[in-house]
Amino acid sequence: MRTWSRLCREDKLRLGLVPTMGALHEGHAALIRRAKTTCDRVVVSVFVNPLQFGPNEDYQRYPRDLMRDSVLAQQAGADVLFVPTPEEMLPAAADVRVTPPEVARRWEGEFRPGHFEGVCTICTRLFNVVQPDRAVFGRKDYQQLRVIEDMVAGLLLPVVIESAATVREPEGLALSSRNSYLSEEERSAALVIIRAMRAVEAALRSGERSGRVLTQMLTDHLRCEPMMKTQYAAITDPITLEPLEAVEREGVVLVAGHIGTTRLIDNLHLTDTAAAQ
Ligand code: PAF
Repeated sequence: MRTWSRLCREDKLRLGLVPTMGALHEGHAALIRRAKTTCDRVVVSVFVNPLQFGPNEDYQRYPRDLMRDSVLAQQAGADVLFVPTPEEMLPAAADVRVTPPEVARRWEGEFRPGHFEGVCTICTRLFNVVQPDRAVFGRKDYQQLRVIEDMVAGLLLPVVIESAATVREPEGLALSSRNSYLSEEERSAALVIIRAMRAVEAALRSGERSGRVLTQMLTDHLRCEPMMKTQYAAITDPITLEPLEAVEREGVVLVAGHIGTTRLIDNLHLTDTAAAQ
């Protein structure tokens, strides 16, 4: 991987990386296409990273299908599928860890202790091996994106972080590799998440700006679906991810919870225009 990357740099080719855990879907395809717009060559890494799963999480059952992944990645425009082994990504000195930035503390950080340390550590290693000019992350995992941005800034890593919008099914369910765990009934129950977030957006459009009122609306809406066990639902500042007292210009709705045994997360950006109208 390093040799190929060095040859690219010698040829003055801009290298993009899309880090993934495989089980690729249209959301990943959008990241790859995005990387292709700013880079000459795109590497897609596939590594199910044990460091970012808690002891009672789905590391063992996480979907793996390398043949499908390689077809999807190629069709989306990837030049290389980089599939390192656990031995390579977790070297003997693997007790070296990257401490995540402050923005990792709340939300996912609270409900998945150690998760962002695992993400930061593995992404740093991937950056060090692939040495991309740019790396593209999905806004679906919005807190992860913010954590990576701050980590890169804090460690002065020579990589530009880009993001791409969440891809949704027509009814609004955000694409996620974990959706494959959902039964038909759970799939339709999961739509409560996007409905609740859109209700907040609509209320903002009609002039409601109070973070407390909007958050209450969000949680009430989520409670309408008995299968949804919400872990957190908040309206936050897009940069700090601290809860907002009032949505003035921008905000991000963050939701996480379980439908059955499947943990889902989603978010919705509340834009200037939504707040201004
Ligand atoms: O978003 C993911 O799939 C993972 O967290 C990532 C960024 C590939 C790190 O393992």
